[in-house]
Amino acid sequence: MSKLFSGISLGGLRLDNRVAVSPMCQYSAVNGVAQDWHLIHLGSLALSGAGLVIAEATAVEAAGRITHGCLGLWNDEQEEALARIVRATKAYSHAALGIQLGHAGRRASCQSISTRSTREWLDIGEGAWQTYGPSATSYNEGWHTPVEMTESDILRVITAFAQAARRADRAGFDLIEIHGAHGYLIHQFMSPLTNKRTDTWGGSLDNRLRFALEVARAVRSVWPQSKALGFRVNSKDWHPDGLSLDDAIVLCQALKEIGVDYAVMSAGNLVPDAKIPRATPGHQVAFAMRVKKETGLTAMAVGFIVDPKLADDIIMEGRADMVAIGRAFLDNPRWALHAAATLGVDPDYPPQYVRIRPNNWIGFTTAHPGVVAPQTFKQADRPQSTTWDRPSAESKK
Ligand SMILES: Cc1cc2nc3c(=O)[nH]c(=O)nc-3n(C[C@H](O)[C@H](O)[C@H](O)COP(=O)(O)O)c2cc1C
Repeated sequence: MSKLFSGISLGGLRLDNRVAVSPMCQYSAVNGVAQDWHLIHLGSLALSGAGLVIAEATAVEAAGRITHGCLGLWNDEQEEALARIVRATKAYSHAALGIQLGHAGRRASCQSISTRSTREWLDIGEGAWQTYGPSATSYNEGWHTPVEMTESDILRVITAFAQAARRADRAGFDLIEIHGAHGYLIHQFMSPLTNKRTDTWGGSLDNRLRFALEVARAVRSVWPQSKALGFRVNSKDWHPDGLSLDDAIVLCQALKEIGVDYAVMSAGNLVPDAKIPRATPGHQVAFAMRVKKETGLTAMAVGFIVDPKLADDIIMEGRADMVAIGRAFLDNPRWALHAAATLGVDPDYPPQYVRIRPNNWIGFTTAHPGVVAPQTFKQADRPQSTTWDRPSAESKK
C-alpha cells in the first residue's frame, strides 16, 4: 500500500498527500510583481495532484532579489498580485499553496536566464545594485563585493522577513518556507566560508546560526499557528572548511524549538570551489533521514526524485516524511496524478479532467505504458461542481 498519497499535517496545515512542488525561480516578475506567467505556472502545478505547491524564492526587500525578474513581497502591489494568484488557484485546486521567502545577499544583482551571457552578475548599465552580505567578500572573481551588514542592516532584513510573512498571510498563502540554503544570505551567515565576522553574528557556530534563528523567530511570531512554517536547510557545504551535516542537525534542532514545522534538506552553491558529487536519484535523501531520526522534525527530501516508486519507497521506509520535486513537475505538470495511478492509488483529478482518469480513458495505458489502472478506481465519483472547496483540516482527520 502506497504511503506517498497519505495525508500529513505540517503544524496546523493538513495536506492531501506527501508530494510538494519545490520552489522554482521563474525570473518573470516585473519590479517584484507576479505576472500572468506566475498564474499560469502555479495554477497548472496546482492541478498536478501534488498536495503542496511552493512558489519560488521571493525577496523580502529589493536588494535581496537574485535578478530583476525575481518575485518580491515588500509592497502592496506585489502582495495584491500574489493574492490574485492564490484566489484563482484555490478556486480550482485542493493543493495547499506556499511561498518561499528569501534574500540573495552577495548572490543578488545577477542576470536573468533570458539575458545570461558568460558572466552572471549585472553591470552598472544593466541596473546592478548594491549587494549585502555577512562579510565584504564576493562570490567569485568579477562578482559584486557586498557591503558588510551593520547591526541595523541585520535588524532591517529580519524585520523585512516578518513584514513579508504578514503580507503572505494576507495574500492567503498556507505555508512559508524560509530559504536558508543554496548560498543565499541566510546560508552566507551560517557558513564559516562566507561569514568572517568577529561580532555576535559571526565566529562560533551559535553566533553564525543566530541570523537564521532570528529570522525564523520573527516569521513564526507573525505567522499563524494554523499555517505551516518550513525552512530550506543547507545540509552541508561540500567543502572541508564549510558546514557539515552535524551543523545542519544543530540548526534543525533549534528550528524545531522555535516552532518551525519542517525542514527540507538541500545543499550547494555557496562557494565556487565546493566539491559537489554528481547527483544520483534521491542523492540528498540521507540528509533528510538524519534530521528526521535525530531531531524528530518533519523532514522533506529533495533532489533528483523522478521515479514515483522511489518517492514512495522514501516515505514507506521512513527516510523522509515528504518529498519535494522540482524539474519532474516542469517536465510533466501532471506528475503526481500519474504517480498515483502508477502506485495504484486513485488519482485526484480535477472535475474538468475527469475524462482522462485512468478508468475513464481508453488511451491511458497507451499514454502511460506499463501503468495498469486498478479496476477498483471508481468512475466519475467527483462532484459536479467545477470548483473545489478545500475540506477543512477538521473534516479530514
Ligand atoms: C528552474 C529552477 C528554479 C529553481 N529555483 C529555486 C528556488 O526559487 N528556491 C529553491 O530553494 N530552489 C530552487 N530550485 C531548486 C529546486 O527547488 C530543487 O531543490 C532542485 O531542482 C532539485 O530538485 P529536482 O531534482 O526535483 O529538480 C530551482 C530549480 C530549478 C530547476
